[in-house]
Amino acid sequence: MNQFNQIIRDKPASAEDLQLNPRAKGQKIQQWLDRELRRLILQGQIRGGEKLPSTRKLAQLWSIARGTVITVYEQLVAEGYLESRQGSGFYVVTGLTEDIDYVLGENSTRESQPERPDRNEINYKESPFPVQGDFTPKAFSPFQPDCDLFPRVLWGRIMSSLCRQADASIFRFGEAAGYRPLREAISQYLARSRGVKCSAEQVIITSGTQQSLQMISQILLREGDNVIVEDPLYRGARTIFSQAEFTLNPVPVDKDGLTIEKLHKIKTSKLIFTTPTNQCPLGVVLSLERRFQLLDYAQKNQAYIFEDDYDGEFRYTGQPLPALQGLDKNNRVIYAGTFNKTMYASLRLGYLVLPPELFNAALHYRATMDRFPPGLEQAAMSTFLQEGHYNRHLRRMRKVYAGRLKALQEAVASYLPELQIGTRATGLETLAWLPQGSDDRKVCEKLAEQGIRVQALKNFCLQQKLPPALVMGFAAITEKQIRQGIKTIARCL
Ligand SMILES: Cc1ncc(COP(=O)(O)O)c(C=O)c1O
Repeated sequence: MNQFNQIIRDKPASAEDLQLNPRAKGQKIQQWLDRELRRLILQGQIRGGEKLPSTRKLAQLWSIARGTVITVYEQLVAEGYLESRQGSGFYVVTGLTEDIDYVLGENSTRESQPERPDRNEINYKESPFPVQGDFTPKAFSPFQPDCDLFPRVLWGRIMSSLCRQADASIFRFGEAAGYRPLREAISQYLARSRGVKCSAEQVIITSGTQQSLQMISQILLREGDNVIVEDPLYRGARTIFSQAEFTLNPVPVDKDGLTIEKLHKIKTSKLIFTTPTNQCPLGVVLSLERRFQLLDYAQKNQAYIFEDDYDGEFRYTGQPLPALQGLDKNNRVIYAGTFNKTMYASLRLGYLVLPPELFNAALHYRATMDRFPPGLEQAAMSTFLQEGHYNRHLRRMRKVYAGRLKALQEAVASYLPELQIGTRATGLETLAWLPQGSDDRKVCEKLAEQGIRVQALKNFCLQQKLPPALVMGFAAITEKQIRQGIKTIARCL
């Protein structure tokens, strides 16, 4: 960008120039302003890099409270539409408008654009899930298990014998809650291994945590409702919430997990999303004291806690930590687990453990979504659990992954000491802190050119400013690939 353009872009847009549509009858001022600013940004009428009018000016011109304008600006910052530059004001984030230009098409005119851009078009660029391409794990693809080590022959034998001998009912329409023997096996496994207290009557089989969260957020919340989330936040959850146009209320996470005293300072919600066993992506554990405080908060505010226990089985020192759900006496926790990380990624089976009063609503919603889960895979999963193969497989994978984490730590110590690997000993990925002053997004882009796949911590942050770091997976690649990958990073940095 040349100097002239820079000057033009830094010049604050005049409040008079903002083409805000009039407020609809009955529409709240905050909701109206929020919608209008989003629309102008997404339609490219306020472009990436442009400065917004000051909160004071906008408030004066439209005769609204300055606090309302500040709240709306801050929400747009939290969702990545705007950035706030200290002492200078609020600016439209650059990449976003470029993306939307692309989505809307270069020649789209204001008149031909819909009043509100299509929900899917707006948010698809934010999604962390690629829809096509090469899915082979690379050094250091995060959030991926090693599917090559899955005992395929054994699984094939179970599937084949079920195919030949099982009752034909597993090929017919099935119950929306899932295959009953699998629900039983899951409730027993969870009680034994994850400290979850439930009966099979509370279990619904889903295609994984992503679907579980989609279901729960749809039955509890409506467009415009608040949802309390961790900051930094798992990007898959952020996508679900922003697609549904829920308002994100971020609560910072520190070394002991979600900061409960900050939780008390924000607007409450019916739903709190959290990853207490292994915060995604920081890898911290919610302390016991805070677990009780969170449960207490949920009870007092009649909120539900969505416990995303996405990889609690993979703890490499001591026993896996019991789930938050096991401490809950008041049915405030909705527990979600998945087989897509513990078995193999394309299995697409997970489960929800629901407070009894939410069960029916979730069941009916699930039935309208995709009716019921696949019969043969559920029956095979049930056998796998009941015959003890699942626990054996987990024990084996824990050992393999622990070895890979150690290989990563050693390779970093030998070849890349300026990277600080976090102390976490859980999950399929870890954080690597970069030297102060680095830009983690730029580092990711540079490494991608060398075939290295890492994610920037900044991409998970909402309002919290954290030092630069990379989210690095170590589970899906061999120790040799880990060492080679670290040497490649050392050459690039
Ligand atoms: C924190 C977290 N929650 C949920 C999921 C989604 O799990 P599933 O594949 O079962 O939908 C992931 C996947 O990477 C994750 O990292």
